Amino acid sequence: MTTMMNDAPLFARRLAAAGAIEKPILALRRRLHQFPELSNNEFRTTLTLKKELERLGLAVHAGLTPTGLWADLDSGRPGPTVAIRTDIDALAVTEQTGLPYASKVPGVMHACGHDVHMAVFIGTARLLAKFLADLVGRVRFIAQPAEEQPPGGARPLIDAGVLKNPPVDVILALHVDPALRVGSIGVRDGVNFVAVHDFDIRVVGRAAHAAFPHRAVDALAVAAEIISGLQQVVSRQIDPIHPAVVTLGTIAGGRARNIIPGEVFIEGTARSLDPAVTRKMPGLIRKIAVGIGRGLGARVEVIPRGAYPPLRCDPRVNGRVAGAFRALYPDGRIRTHALVMGAEDFACYLDHVPGTMFRLGVANRTIGADKPWHHPAFIVDERAIRIGYSTMTLAAADLLHHWPSEAR
Ligand code: NI
Repeated sequence: MTTMMNDAPLFARRLAAAGAIEKPILALRRRLHQFPELSNNEFRTTLTLKKELERLGLAVHAGLTPTGLWADLDSGRPGPTVAIRTDIDALAVTEQTGLPYASKVPGVMHACGHDVHMAVFIGTARLLAKFLADLVGRVRFIAQPAEEQPPGGARPLIDAGVLKNPPVDVILALHVDPALRVGSIGVRDGVNFVAVHDFDIRVVGRAAHAAFPHRAVDALAVAAEIISGLQQVVSRQIDPIHPAVVTLGTIAGGRARNIIPGEVFIEGTARSLDPAVTRKMPGLIRKIAVGIGRGLGARVEVIPRGAYPPLRCDPRVNGRVAGAFRALYPDGRIRTHALVMGAEDFACYLDHVPGTMFRLGVANRTIGADKPWHHPAFIVDERAIRIGYSTMTLAAADLLHHWPSEAR
């Protein structure tokens, strides 16, 4: 489909190079898996990535945020700037895989596959660096902290200029998918994840002894009414042809059975697809929560805790990724995954530049690699890693040679 891929000897050399780095890249992945770090605390992880990129001769820019980094691989020839982003953080999950390279950090685990993403990222950097003489433009490698913890690590990096100097023209990322068999990838044109608005609700009443409710403003009873009332946002206030969800995930308040609590704290998230609904939801939530509080004599604050735009993948970039995968794996399957009400802060980059986040199949039931994201026994089929960096490398190389003529 492209001059790059039709150059058979070069293509063969690339495939051989992809095989040659598989062992060290798998070792890197296992090392990262053993030492997972929570969001915004990825110091050791960042150092590991920095060393890997510096070995390739890349000038690494760190310190834009406490963790995370970016580095350019510059061909010195005019051309577009293609960015590749990996997330780097792990989760507060106690690993139960029984793997020989299981997490050595109690209560922390790479249960979302970000260790795989980093291995793919470094594998891609190594291959692109090896074939730099064949490339034009530049590739920017972005290692982003705190994907798992809203408001996410993407915005601070974007604010620090990670998409500028020179401007990034197109951006790529992938996410492992335990619902997709190893040997397949997933792409979806347009919206993949919806818009998210996270919020906290603070209900302030007046504490009193259980026997004297008339002297109290029962924050727990008010919170219960608010929780019920917020069910009406989606069911009664939003046109049912537009998908939306409001979920309240935590409630905290009270210390003893015989004390009416004076304060309750609720954490929630609202998600929607239609931009008009997305704009409307925070106001509806606030109006209902504050209104219920006012009626019952409590002060209610609704505190925004960050918002993500919908994650929108460019069909042209998806086409390039699918083309690269097909050239490498003619028998591999390309699936279209479903739209889900999930969130991913890669959406913040896609709000500025076109690109895609494609899915990398890692499922293989025979080795137990069929647990969902964030599960304590989350396992991937590691053969996916080579598929990931080979596809990413070819897609990036293809975009370097072909993107500007399409986009400009
Ligand atoms: Ni993830």
